[in-house]
Amino acid sequence: QNFVDIDISSLKAGQQITVTWQGHPVFILNRPTEALQALQDASLITRLRDPDSKELQQPSYTQNWHRSIRPETVVLIGSCTHLGCVPTLKLGAKLGSFYNCACHGSRFDLAGRVYKSMPAPYNLPIPPYTYLKPNIIRIG
Ligand code: FES
Repeated sequence: QNFVDIDISSLKAGQQITVTWQGHPVFILNRPTEALQALQDASLITRLRDPDSKELQQPSYTQNWHRSIRPETVVLIGSCTHLGCVPTLKLGAKLGSFYNCACHGSRFDLAGRVYKSMPAPYNLPIPPYTYLKPNIIRIG
């Protein structure tokens, strides 16, 4: 089976679930309003290596500032683009939320965009996905 269906109806703001798709961990995060505002903050964007994900193939429906179909719900392959460790979600106030890769210290924002001068060369990839129903996501 090449797809996995996930019910996100109980996913509250700030909560994340991790599912497995084709052997990869996939993060589904419900981003709080504050985190969405941070993604558009100029002081964050200048610290990102590839803020518009120009270097990465990603589904056309995620080529926007929030890198997702719905702004609040992001779907990311949770595999560091350096050597494949699984980054950890750190939630903080305003610009203090990010994914941290403990292996060699790469940091990504809550759209999976890598900060400058990190070992990871690219943003976290986004898998193909669609909404089957308002709260059911199909990955794959
Ligand atoms: Fe993530 Fe090296 S595997 S920084």
